Amino acid sequence: MASVRPYKESDKERVQHICLANAECLDKPESLQKYILIMYCNYYIEQEPGNCFVAVNDEDEAVGYIICSENYDTYEERFKDLYLNQCAAISPTKYVEAKLDLLSHSMFKKQYPTHFHIDIDDNYQRMGLGSLLISTLKAHLRKKNINSMMMVCGEDNQKAIDFYKKNGFKDLITTKMGHAMGLEFED
Ligand SMILES: CC(C)(COP(=O)(O)OP(=O)(O)OC[C@H]1O[C@@H](n2cnc3c(N)ncnc32)[C@H](O)[C@@H]1OP(=O)(O)O)[C@@H](O)C(=O)NCCC(=O)NCCS
Repeated sequence: MASVRPYKESDKERVQHICLANAECLDKPESLQKYILIMYCNYYIEQEPGNCFVAVNDEDEAVGYIICSENYDTYEERFKDLYLNQCAAISPTKYVEAKLDLLSHSMFKKQYPTHFHIDIDDNYQRMGLGSLLISTLKAHLRKKNINSMMMVCGEDNQKAIDFYKKNGFKDLITTKMGHAMGLEFED
């Protein structure tokens, strides 16, 4: 039976693997893998590990995660300081892409300062783990007096959009950067 617990440093490799696998990047060039990890994984687990949770199997091996940044302004400042130069080192295009990606979370920062990424290993999807990770993060944020969270997914990622709708998220906007959805905690 899988369950959810706080992220630990020893989960890092598994979390990075799931991130690359779900981005269909395991067989892609190292530079692309590096970019995906910088943008969608490393900031959160390195800078805000206390806002990250993993779903684990019976062997306590991570099979999914939810990784979160609780405040956009802090995220932007630290990201620009510590990670943007890593994107620039990959290529000028990746630097521009990274800056655009930052914007996709900034648009709603007043109403939704908190954003997150979630991924479940293929073999563990549709078992309720994603929903459990969402409710775990929500309870964690509420304790910190945070009352909303948002994310951006691919506009053609219908199974993810259905998943978020099922978990109470509403549509915010669709741009070239993806489909933004937000959840305000009411209960
Ligand atoms: C999207 C994702 C996080 C959902 O987590 P999950 O543990 O699979 O979802 P849950 O079991 O908690 O919820 C199931 C609901 O999600 C949606 N869903 C999840 N997987 C689905 C699939 N393969 N096909 C269709 N709908 C799916 C459905 O609405 C489903 O409800 P239903 O079973 O009543 O139809 C997970 O499937 C995943 O990691 N997918 C690949 C990566 C991804 O898209 N990440 C999100 C990027 S923003």
